Amino acid sequence: MKPTKSKRSFASDNNAGVHPRVLEAIVAANRGHVVAYGDDPYTKAAIAKFHEHFGKSTEIYFVFGGTGANVIGLKAVTESYNAIICADTAHINVDECGAPEKFTGCKLLPLSTEDGKIRVEQIKPLLHGVGFEHHVQPKVISISQSTEMGTVYTPHELKRLSRFAHKNGMLLHMDGARIANAAAGLTLDLREITRDAGVDILSFGGAKNGMMYGEAVVFFNAALAENFKYIRKQGTHLPSKMRFISAQFEALLSNDLWRRNAEHANRMATILAKELGKIPQIMITQKVEANGVFAIIPPKYIPLLQKSYFFYVWNEETSEVRFMTSFDTTEDDIRSFVALVKKTLRN
Ligand SMILES: Cc1ncc(COP(=O)(O)O)c(C=O)c1O
Repeated sequence: MKPTKSKRSFASDNNAGVHPRVLEAIVAANRGHVVAYGDDPYTKAAIAKFHEHFGKSTEIYFVFGGTGANVIGLKAVTESYNAIICADTAHINVDECGAPEKFTGCKLLPLSTEDGKIRVEQIKPLLHGVGFEHHVQPKVISISQSTEMGTVYTPHELKRLSRFAHKNGMLLHMDGARIANAAAGLTLDLREITRDAGVDILSFGGAKNGMMYGEAVVFFNAALAENFKYIRKQGTHLPSKMRFISAQFEALLSNDLWRRNAEHANRMATILAKELGKIPQIMITQKVEANGVFAIIPPKYIPLLQKSYFFYVWNEETSEVRFMTSFDTTEDDIRSFVALVKKTLRN
């Protein structure tokens, strides 16, 4: 394949490439034969890194992708008569092609949100049918951290949700596809916004933070993971050449690479929002607490801008668009995009 001129975009943190340190780790792991399916030194070392961050009694399972992590993590703790409560904007609700419903058999109960965050007061009314056989039985509250709207739950908000969940016989699941961005945004450690805040199951994101692929399902209560090795295999998420996911995670969780990547992406989002916010026809619609920027742009200009820097329209009706930054976004990307926006909107 001929090399093409490298293109830049604000479409998704998944559109970025792989962080060089991570790529080096893959290459370094490409030596000799090791036992497949995770019984190898790279996987042991990666799990030890997870233990450094989250504590020893944490169960970690590597998987190929984020949808899979959510689906099989939820499957592990539910029966088909259960319900999973989430935000209407949640990836599990809108971007997983119904996979959580198909594989868990559970009903999703989506709650409307302005900012991607759900609150205890909204959940209470969903519990009126507990114990009543005609109703699904809520078992999991699933939240995204950071949220699909680029906002972040504070430890206080997380603790309120987890206490409420546990008091009512439920579990707190976190879709942490962007957990690094959330922790960096809050200037906290990974543990403080997961385990210490009462999260039970975490989908730990790697791809958006600089990995090539690979995520982890993390259980903070080992009992919940009792049969998970079977569920992962049956759910088609047991990677045979696991060492290549493990090596990436070891690199990401060493020397604060995860935090540096996330801090950089978040800083780029803050600058982008600040610069776009100065343009009179543009309205920033969400707080920028991680690496996403949401803005309303007059619709006629959107296709023109997308030609040079692709990004997604989030809401056709309101002409709200989403910009995502990543570990490799540069200030130059922002400068030239903002200049293009100014020029386009003047015409
Ligand atoms: C919030 C969230 N969760 C999970 C995922 C995982 O998706 P994938 O299955 O594409 O790895 C994504 C990807 O965009 C996401 O944004």
